[in-house]
Amino acid sequence: MPTTPRSDLPSWQALATHHAEISGRHLRDLFADDPGRGERLTAEAAGLYLDYSKNRITDETVRLLLGLARECELEQRRDLMFSGARVNTSEHRSVLHVALRMPKGSTLVVDGVDVVAQVHEVLDRMAAFAQRIRSGEWRGHTGKRIRTIVNVGIGGSDLGPVMAYEALRHYTDRDLTFRFVSNVDSTDFVEATRDLSADETLFVISSKTFGTLETLTNAHSARDWVIGQLGDEAAIAKHFVAVSTNAQRVAEFGIDTANMFGFWDWVGGRYSMDSAIGLSTMVAIGPERFGELLAGFHEMDEHFRTAPLEENLPALMGLLTVWYVNFFGAQSIGVMPYEQYLKRFPAYLQQLTMESNGKHVTRDGDPIGYDTGPVYWGEPGTNGQHSFYQLIHQGTRLIPVDLIGFGQTLNPLGDHHDLLMSNVFAQAQALAFGKTEAEVRAEGTADDVVPHRVMEGNRPTNVLLADRLTPRLLGALVALYEHSVFTQGTIWDIDSFDQWGVELGKALAAKIIPELTSGPEPELGHDSSTNALIRRYRGMRG
Ligand code: F6P
Repeated sequence: MPTTPRSDLPSWQALATHHAEISGRHLRDLFADDPGRGERLTAEAAGLYLDYSKNRITDETVRLLLGLARECELEQRRDLMFSGARVNTSEHRSVLHVALRMPKGSTLVVDGVDVVAQVHEVLDRMAAFAQRIRSGEWRGHTGKRIRTIVNVGIGGSDLGPVMAYEALRHYTDRDLTFRFVSNVDSTDFVEATRDLSADETLFVISSKTFGTLETLTNAHSARDWVIGQLGDEAAIAKHFVAVSTNAQRVAEFGIDTANMFGFWDWVGGRYSMDSAIGLSTMVAIGPERFGELLAGFHEMDEHFRTAPLEENLPALMGLLTVWYVNFFGAQSIGVMPYEQYLKRFPAYLQQLTMESNGKHVTRDGDPIGYDTGPVYWGEPGTNGQHSFYQLIHQGTRLIPVDLIGFGQTLNPLGDHHDLLMSNVFAQAQALAFGKTEAEVRAEGTADDVVPHRVMEGNRPTNVLLADRLTPRLLGALVALYEHSVFTQGTIWDIDSFDQWGVELGKALAAKIIPELTSGPEPELGHDSSTNALIRRYRGMRG
C-alpha cells in the first residue's frame, strides 16, 4: 500500500487540478455540450440501474477518480476482504459479511475453517425454527401459538431487523406481529408490550456481544414481564431465544443455548442483518424469501468483486462521494427513497455509513489531513420535498442526493405511483438545471421577487431505479451501499470496520449510574457542568 498521505498522491493532485477547472461548470452546460451523457454515465447490476449523469463530472473526472481508486489499490483491498484477511486492523479481525450470503456448497476457508459451511449450518437451524413459529408448531408455555415476535437489540442488532421488516412488510406473514425494542428508555419497552399477552409473545434477544447495556436492560425487563404474567421461570424456555456470538453470556442470562443462533466476530454489527441477526426477518418473510434476500446481496457482492471499476456501481458511487466530500467540501449526503416501505432505510444507512467511516486516523493510526465520512440522512419522498428539500434546492450548502425509485409499486392504487415517480425525475431535473433569472423574469415575476425565485441548480444527484422492491432487490441495495462505504474507506485509508468512538460515552455512563442512584450525594469528581447536571437530576428524580 502507498504510504504517502492520500492527498499527496499524484491521482489526488490531478483531481484537485481538475476540480479547479470544472467546478465552475454548470450541469446545464455539461448536458448541452454532451447530450449523450444521460445514457452513457449509467451503470446497471443486480437489478439496479444507476444514472449518475447528473453529477458535476465529465468523462475525465471519472477517469481520474478511477485512477485514484487504482492508486489506492481498491481492487487489491477488496480482494483481501473477500479472502478473509484481517482487514479490520484495529480489532485484528477478518471482515466477512460477504460470506454470509455465499451460496450453499461454495467454500471459503479462513484459519482452517470453512466459514460458508458454518453459515449454512446456522441458516438451516434458523429456517427450521422460523418454520416452527410460522406453522404454529412452536407453542408457548401455556400451549398457545406465538402471535408476536419482539426483537430486542440496538444498533446493528436492531436497525437491520427493523429496516428489513418494514422494507419487506408486503411479504410478511400477516398473522404474526413484529415489534422492535431498542432504546433503554423504558417507554420503548412499555409501549411495545402494553397490548401483548406474554403467552403468545416470543422475545428474540439480539446482541453480538450480549453485553450491551440497553439490550440487557430490556431483556431483563422482558424476562420480568413474562414471568410476571405467566408466573413461572420455566416459561423462559418457550418465550426467549437469543442471537449472539457469546454463548456463555446467553447461558448466564438464562436462555438455553439450544435456543441460540450464533454468528462470528468477523461479522460487524452494522453488517449483520443477513446473519442470525436476521432471525426476525426470516420469521416474518419465511426462509425461502430470506434466501432470495441473501441471493440479492450475493449478486451485488459478485458484481463488486468482478466488474471492471468503470462499470462497478458500488465503486462509482463510493468514488463520487469522495469527489464531493474531498474536492467540493460537501458535508452531507441525502438518501431519499421514493418507496414508503423503505422509510427506515436512511436510518439504517446512518449506522452503516457513519459508524464505518467516521474516523480521524488512518489504518496505521496517523492523523488524517482531509475529510472522511460525511453525514448521511434522508426521508422517504415525496414527504421530504415538503419539508427540507428547500435547503437542498436553494440553501448555501452542496448536498449530493441519491434518489431511489421503482418501476412498479407493490400496492397499485389509481395514479399514485406515476405521481410518485414523476417527482423522482422532476427533483433530479430541478436540482441539476434549476431555473435561470431569464426564465423567472419571462414568467412575469415582479423585480423584487426575482432573486428569491431563481434556482441556481447544479446540484448533483444519483438516481437508482429498480423494477420493484423484492427481498432480492433489498439485498442488492444494501450490499451496494456496504461496498460504496468500503470504497470510500479504502480511498481515505481508514478502518471502516471498528467503532472505538462509541466506547468513551459507554464507560462514562457506567461511572455515572451509581452517582445518580446512590442514597447520600456522592463526592462528584467531574467537571463543574457535569457535576451540576448530576446534582440537578438527583433533585428532580426524587
Ligand atoms: O455501540 C455501538 C455498537 O457496538 C454497534 O456497533 C453495534 O451494532 C451495537 O452497539 C450493538 O451491539 P451488540 O449487538 O453487541 O449488542
